[in-house]
Amino acid sequence: MKKILSALCLLCALTAQAQTHTFDINTKKLGAPIQKTMYGIFFEDINYAADGGLYGELVKNRSFEFTPDPLMGWDAFGRLEVKNDGPFDKNPHYVRLLSAGHRDKWTGLQNEGFFGIGVEKDAEYRFSLYARVPDGRKQMLRVQLVNQSTMEEHQEFTSNDIVVDSKDWKKYTVVIKSTRTASHANLRLMLCNENGSSGSGTMDVEHISLFPVDTWKGHENGMRKDLAQALADLHPGVFRFPGGCIVEGTTLDQRYQWKNSVGPVENRPINKNRWENTFTYRYFPDYHQSYGLGFYEYFLLSEEIGAEPLPVLSVGLACEFQNGSHRSDAHVPVDQLQPYIDDVLDLIEFANGDPAKNVWAKLRADMGHPAPFNLKFVAIGNEQWDTIYPENLEPFIKQVRAKYPNIKIIGTSGPNSEGKDFDYLWPEMKRLGADLVDEHFYRPESWFLKSGNRYDNYDRKGPKVFAGEYACHGRGKKWNHFNAALLEAAFLTGVERNADVVHMATYAPLFAHVDGWQWRPDMIWYDNLKSFRTCSWHVQSLYANNKGDNVLQLTMNGKPVAGNDDQDGLFASAVYEKATNTVIVKVVNVGDKAQDVTLNLKGMKGSHEATRTIFTAANLDGENTLDQPNAYIPTTQNVTVTAPTQTTSVPAKTFVMWRIKK
Ligand code: AHR
Repeated sequence: MKKILSALCLLCALTAQAQTHTFDINTKKLGAPIQKTMYGIFFEDINYAADGGLYGELVKNRSFEFTPDPLMGWDAFGRLEVKNDGPFDKNPHYVRLLSAGHRDKWTGLQNEGFFGIGVEKDAEYRFSLYARVPDGRKQMLRVQLVNQSTMEEHQEFTSNDIVVDSKDWKKYTVVIKSTRTASHANLRLMLCNENGSSGSGTMDVEHISLFPVDTWKGHENGMRKDLAQALADLHPGVFRFPGGCIVEGTTLDQRYQWKNSVGPVENRPINKNRWENTFTYRYFPDYHQSYGLGFYEYFLLSEEIGAEPLPVLSVGLACEFQNGSHRSDAHVPVDQLQPYIDDVLDLIEFANGDPAKNVWAKLRADMGHPAPFNLKFVAIGNEQWDTIYPENLEPFIKQVRAKYPNIKIIGTSGPNSEGKDFDYLWPEMKRLGADLVDEHFYRPESWFLKSGNRYDNYDRKGPKVFAGEYACHGRGKKWNHFNAALLEAAFLTGVERNADVVHMATYAPLFAHVDGWQWRPDMIWYDNLKSFRTCSWHVQSLYANNKGDNVLQLTMNGKPVAGNDDQDGLFASAVYEKATNTVIVKVVNVGDKAQDVTLNLKGMKGSHEATRTIFTAANLDGENTLDQPNAYIPTTQNVTVTAPTQTTSVPAKTFVMWRIKK
């Protein structure tokens, strides 16, 4: 009897191991179209994503407008005064450099940059400032890149002089070439006489700026190239900006006001960044928004990377986490919303309007883009909830619809992926006629594992889904690592399968400076010189660059493959890419064992050229780093796939993607 039982057990084990999972993929019938916007990016100035990150400016507090101290970020020496009647009315502060009063004393300023200033050997940097000599006496400004913590004889490793000769404010520019690579340099400015001795005159200085010459697309007010390239390489379908919670502000006066972010950069009033103080355990007292990277630059970037721009605007509610969701002075009453609604209407004109007819459209043209940006979407409100939100949203929808019936409006289902507020808001969004609903889910592994079917039963007649912020936040491992990315990949099979209802998905947050982050995990990390793309970036890239045009039905035993109890940790989806006549199959095995999978390509016969991409990791907790940016990357090989059936093994904890020429 014992022998029979053990023979039976062995048989069971062998059967379990050998069991193949047949994926029936209908390659003959095209399913729902996949929107071009499906996989996109979410940009917010959190973690020093804008100033100190994507924005190329290397000088912190270039306009002396930081609060409470206008000299934050600067070390001042000698004799100087901060004055506030400068040439830019919205940024009125500037510094008056005065003679130090002795030939061996010096006056000047030194900027610390954002966690230092990163410069590369032989690279060029454009230094500029507005300056004047109020008494008309020529003075010279010595502009140096210095390393203050060196043991070498000289701290400065690059030095250039600018002669300021006008009593009136003028812009002075010099291109400087760095003689070395340094990640934590400082910018030192010294008031001099023309012969280089300590300045005995007076000089006023304002809007002191240093940019790499080699920015993304060479724009002068440009972006850091490696970071912008990491966005472009995703070929994102949609670019959401400028947040996130900064859209709302801790208080309404701190909300992101797009009108302050356009026009000449010198006169864009700076704003405290709400992420300065959101987490006291990651506090950054000097975190401000210069708005140098503003709405014009976001629209331009969207155009340059081929993504639909998706601005998010305030609905007149300050952050509800910080102010509650009841009516109070923190929020705008419904009958006082008109300026906020005007902000939306004016933005549509700024993006799409005729410069001859509209002042905002004219500003766009004056800034260098007479052609419209072809804005199609606008989101109103970020993470809002309770009755206060639909009450405020309704008049926005009415006015936008009346004037711009083709603009698609995005509402929100609040900060939670399910629950009371979520259940209340979805029907409300439907009642108000929102086109899409922005869902957010920063959730642990268990949530991602059980959410493969999330969208299978969504209302096909209601608003579409914008999965606007999501990331797997590992339990006890709330940082980037391979397994979190793998679960995001698994979840995205369900997003892809439901492309008729999910029209956009954007991982969040996007960027983080290693020395200045408030929130993690994030998609791309960097210091002042280097950056790396995380495992989550690679997952996004595999989806976004292989999104196809139409869903293909993929089932196992007649059911979607969504990590269900009887599916051995498998998730899968399939799409068809028209331009290359290719079937793309994505399979994620989140289980501990390899699984045999038979691709049953219904409608195909014979041998087919294909590629097989594998994303796997020896260490599930591992991640790329600044020093090893390619430790975890997908690998691709050419293979031949036989049709209709091809059996293959999908390794444990692995994402596999086939691209099969039809
Ligand atoms: O992505 C970080 C924050 O998460 C966003 O600002 C906010 O919308 C959400 O709470």
